[in-house]
Amino acid sequence: MKVEFYGHVRQYHNIKSEIDQNIQTVLESGAYVMGPMLKRFEGELAAYHSTKFAIGLGNGTDAIWMALMALGIGPGDEVITHPNTFFATAEAIWIAGATAVFVDCDPKTKCIDPAKIEAAITPKTKAIIPVHLYGQCADMPAIKKIADKHHLKIIEDNAQGIGAHGNGFKIAELSDAATTSFIIQKNLGTFGDSGALVTDNAGIDATVRRLRNHGSNARNVHSYGFNSRLDDLHAGILSAKLKHINEYNDLRRKWSVRYTAGLKDCKTFDLPVELPGYRHVFHLYVIETKKPEWRDQLLDYLVRNNIDAKTHYSIAIHQQAGYPWGKGARIVGSIAHAERNAATCISLPMFPELTPEEVDYVIAKVKEWDKQQVPGTAAKGKKVAAVA
Ligand SMILES: Cc1ncc(COP(=O)(O)O)c(C=O)c1O
Repeated sequence: MKVEFYGHVRQYHNIKSEIDQNIQTVLESGAYVMGPMLKRFEGELAAYHSTKFAIGLGNGTDAIWMALMALGIGPGDEVITHPNTFFATAEAIWIAGATAVFVDCDPKTKCIDPAKIEAAITPKTKAIIPVHLYGQCADMPAIKKIADKHHLKIIEDNAQGIGAHGNGFKIAELSDAATTSFIIQKNLGTFGDSGALVTDNAGIDATVRRLRNHGSNARNVHSYGFNSRLDDLHAGILSAKLKHINEYNDLRRKWSVRYTAGLKDCKTFDLPVELPGYRHVFHLYVIETKKPEWRDQLLDYLVRNNIDAKTHYSIAIHQQAGYPWGKGARIVGSIAHAERNAATCISLPMFPELTPEEVDYVIAKVKEWDKQQVPGTAAKGKKVAAVA
């Protein structure tokens, strides 16, 4: 058996007529950029988030730095986040011209640890960017409390958590704006690049709308801006998929329950944790080996057994070669948990269209490897031969 990491084509086949119909509608409309399909999708996305506004953008990275820019954050300012996220979170801070300040993650959730934020605040601090990493919300109430106390803005990087919620809070409820990415592999993904920002703030909405379109809201009238629009073909694809996002997330949750039940007795790694009252949408199902040296052994074993496992993210941002590339960056306190996450993470295949047989095959292979590491069953820590 072969188990892929992604199921984009299966998803397309399952709702082909809905996607094809929206693509046809756009093609026949003759309006491909800033057309009616984009407007429709923005309305649907705002309604989904219960926000006043949603703006379609070129990608999720642009959404973050445009939010920063709309909030007046740039050179001379500091923005706090954590280093075990996708590179784009920090990249967006640097594109905005600000300094990225890294604090540690929570050892359980891998999202930013609110307890580490206050020590990083200086007179230059302007914002916090929590990431809903792997599909579970960061502790927004705790982050909001700190932000309010120090008059900071919050931008939620929600590239991985669309459809998630916390214990008594929704995404975009406790922040100035939430951004997302619709790149192919995301829980709501198109067949290419795009992203969005949702907000209740009319000022952010107006500014980002202008910024994305060459600083223009009216023909021939411009101010400083960029080209970062979500085009109508992608909006049509996303509109079709948005109708299924809750069902897709439910399936991801179902597979996560199956993985967890199957792997709970293993000794060599820790399983992901869903906090009480939270809805984790399992963009990724990430296990962490108890010893860093086991990570590549297990990964290698899975790959050699036709299981496309990956790592998210095995090189933390501050560990990348050349960091920080002449950009403003600061690390505050120990970031040992973030570094451990980078050194030990393995993402098992996770997408809605998995089959029970595929999930069970992955479980069987992971268990097989685990048993061989446990004293008394096989040579401890020894590299295990692949079994096809
Ligand atoms: C946490 C996080 N932030 C930001 C991004 C950037 O999104 P994009 O690739 O659409 O620019 C991604 C995904 O790619 C992400 O996973």
